[in-house]
Amino acid sequence: MERERWGTKIGLILALAGNAVGLGNFLRFPVQAAGNGGGAFMIPYFIALILVGIPLMWTELSMGRFGGHRGHGTMPGIFQLLWRHPVAKYLGVLGLLLPITVFIYYLVVESWTLGFSFFSLVGKYNGATTQEAMGGFLRGYQGIARNDYFNGMYWAYFFFIATAAINYIVLRRGIRGGIEKLANIGMPLLIVMAIALVVRVLSLGTPDPSKPDQSVLNGLGFIWNPDFGALRNPKVWLAAAGQIFFTLSVGFGAIQAYSSYLRKDDDVALSGIATVSTNEFCEVICGGTIAIPIACAFFGIAATQTIAQGSSFNLAFQSMPIVFQHLPLGNIFGFMWFFLLFIAGVTSSVALTLPAVTFFMDELGWTRKKAVNVISIFTFAASNLVIFFLVHGFMDELDFWAGTFGVVLLAFIEIVVFFWVFGKDKAWEEITRGAEIKVPSIFKFIMKYVTPLFLVAILATWAKSDLIKVLRMDAVSPENRPYVWGARALMLAIIAGFTILVAIASRRGGLSKERNVI
Ligand code: TRP
Repeated sequence: MERERWGTKIGLILALAGNAVGLGNFLRFPVQAAGNGGGAFMIPYFIALILVGIPLMWTELSMGRFGGHRGHGTMPGIFQLLWRHPVAKYLGVLGLLLPITVFIYYLVVESWTLGFSFFSLVGKYNGATTQEAMGGFLRGYQGIARNDYFNGMYWAYFFFIATAAINYIVLRRGIRGGIEKLANIGMPLLIVMAIALVVRVLSLGTPDPSKPDQSVLNGLGFIWNPDFGALRNPKVWLAAAGQIFFTLSVGFGAIQAYSSYLRKDDDVALSGIATVSTNEFCEVICGGTIAIPIACAFFGIAATQTIAQGSSFNLAFQSMPIVFQHLPLGNIFGFMWFFLLFIAGVTSSVALTLPAVTFFMDELGWTRKKAVNVISIFTFAASNLVIFFLVHGFMDELDFWAGTFGVVLLAFIEIVVFFWVFGKDKAWEEITRGAEIKVPSIFKFIMKYVTPLFLVAILATWAKSDLIKVLRMDAVSPENRPYVWGARALMLAIIAGFTILVAIASRRGGLSKERNVI
């Protein structure tokens, strides 16, 4: 049986970097850092990067390569190979559920970035120079309000369809001709635009001399000055670990799908480090320099704090357009900002769908065409719920279970299956085979003991502080509860669907068979 492969080493690394670098780097990171101790946030952040992020990146890359050259590129098949137990394959359903759930809302936000790129170019929001006006523009676009800017969701829906279509086309073209090609063009463009924006921000100085407090330097101080007291708060540690998972795309089962298209002896160790480094450059340097400091320079620290607390979307879609209107060539910079987000988004969202596509192809024997058609139609329909129930907390609910809780759980299962069930020596052999760097052997110890303990600590702290409250919907207003139940029902339906498909694949004998893949 023949399996598609990545074309070149650089293509693979750009594709993996495209997978990891996403909206999380530019929208989620600055808000998390600013809200959780500023510079002090970087301490738990880097600890989580070393103890969980890098170990999981290597684990997932080698698990995927291990499964891929045996004909199984997704978690149900991989768990089954690593752990010959009847429940193993069902645990793998998590590795299909999580990325698809994230995709369902990620696609919607991604479509806003495409829409706003266009509006920046044509100057559609020009004149909306106050938070109220620009907030109205955003809510009008989202269909939450009707006003002078929008009287309906036609624009939003148009860009949603366009975004879904772009994702569809890339996936239909496959690994080398679709995802890799997109990354080869998109990632260099993204880096250039990110650096251009960073330089523009750093050269702003004090835009309004009559308000000397409002400067880029003070903005950098706001995001980076450490508040060490914050480190005593477990929430800060949870937020840091959560950001590491989200930004590196680890714990979702999605890295495995990428590495399942590697050859048996292809390097994973160096590719993993290259991916992590590129992601951290785009996150800490670029993500940390653009949105928050620029908002501080124009609105002051207090206002920025309020904006960032509101929602991570207000900063990007409401405040940034106001800032750009104050800059020469503002429309171009506005376009760069939103198009940068769009590229970051699209190179990630195709990675969110790939596990399901790969599962259908590997385990059910579907053609790529059929696999992509089925998953695209399903997710397109489900994303409509996010669009139309946006104000009712639908997106937040999906994000909590898949993006916050589920990842830690799946990460824990992965590490235990790989290092304890499959065995640490065999796992280490997988990670180091073909390695183009020497992996420090301390990581063998870290991955076997420290990473799982760290993950248990996170799960336990969470369960104690949050789980019951979330289950009971304490923070959800009564009128939104039916919608939140709807979001839960959707996730349960996805679980049920994939569970049935795993059972069918297994009845046919496909899941446990090692195929000879060339
Ligand atoms: N890492 C992506 C970002 O920073 C988001 C993401 C989370 C993701 N999980 C994923 C992307 C799984 C691809 C696959 O925006």
